[in-house]
Amino acid sequence: MKGIILAGGTGSRLAPMTNVTNKHLLPVYDRPMVMHPLGMLVDVGIKEIMIVAGKGHAGHFLELLGSGADLGIRLSYAVQEKPGGIAQALAHTEDFADGGSVAVVLGDNIFGDRLDLSGFSKGARIHLKEVDDAQRFGVATLEGSKVTRIVEKPERPETRYAVTGLYLYDAQVYGFIRALRPSPRGELEITDVNNKYIEKGQMEARVISGFWTDAGTVESLYRASTLVRELRHGRRED
Ligand code: G1P
Repeated sequence: MKGIILAGGTGSRLAPMTNVTNKHLLPVYDRPMVMHPLGMLVDVGIKEIMIVAGKGHAGHFLELLGSGADLGIRLSYAVQEKPGGIAQALAHTEDFADGGSVAVVLGDNIFGDRLDLSGFSKGARIHLKEVDDAQRFGVATLEGSKVTRIVEKPERPETRYAVTGLYLYDAQVYGFIRALRPSPRGELEITDVNNKYIEKGQMEARVISGFWTDAGTVESLYRASTLVRELRHGRRED
């Protein structure tokens, strides 16, 4: 399986820090943000990884990570010219995926758990986490352990299960993206892709046990650093 990190967007919510570098290179505790999702892929032995970067300061990724040789991996890069949504960023990786399955992580998502790829062969897998502010995320409705639909940023969430930015997809994903129409916020939504898999009965959902946070706002960036620090010092279990 190949790995993909989606690091698009302008990071406007983190200005003025993002005036001088890319949001995904801001520090989260002991390393630049993107190195956390990258480390998660590398830790499970994924050797070929593509980073899709937004245009702002995209060259800084190359300065930091180069070819990936220092990490024992092969890195490729693509540039998303304009912010057009997570699914649109993912569309840039079709040739790279070359008909195989991919593990996709959002560059501003930080996880406490190790990635578990076991048992995945086709369809898609999402990873859920119970949160108190579900209205900020894609929210999953469940029947037993089955997800029946996902609603993107609902005003009144039906559950507390946020859809985290970690997805496993087979190669059908690229066909689903081609059929998407932009959402009211003008983006190609990853939630619409996930709902396609749900409609086809090919979506598996797992609830993760370790911590999870995004790091795209000042508050969540601060929280992310705190959580990683606690993890490093062995003081956090959930
Ligand atoms: C995106 C997805 C959302 C998901 C979240 C995870 O939101 O659209 O479904 O829950 O990432 O971080 P965005 O970062 O675009 O607000």
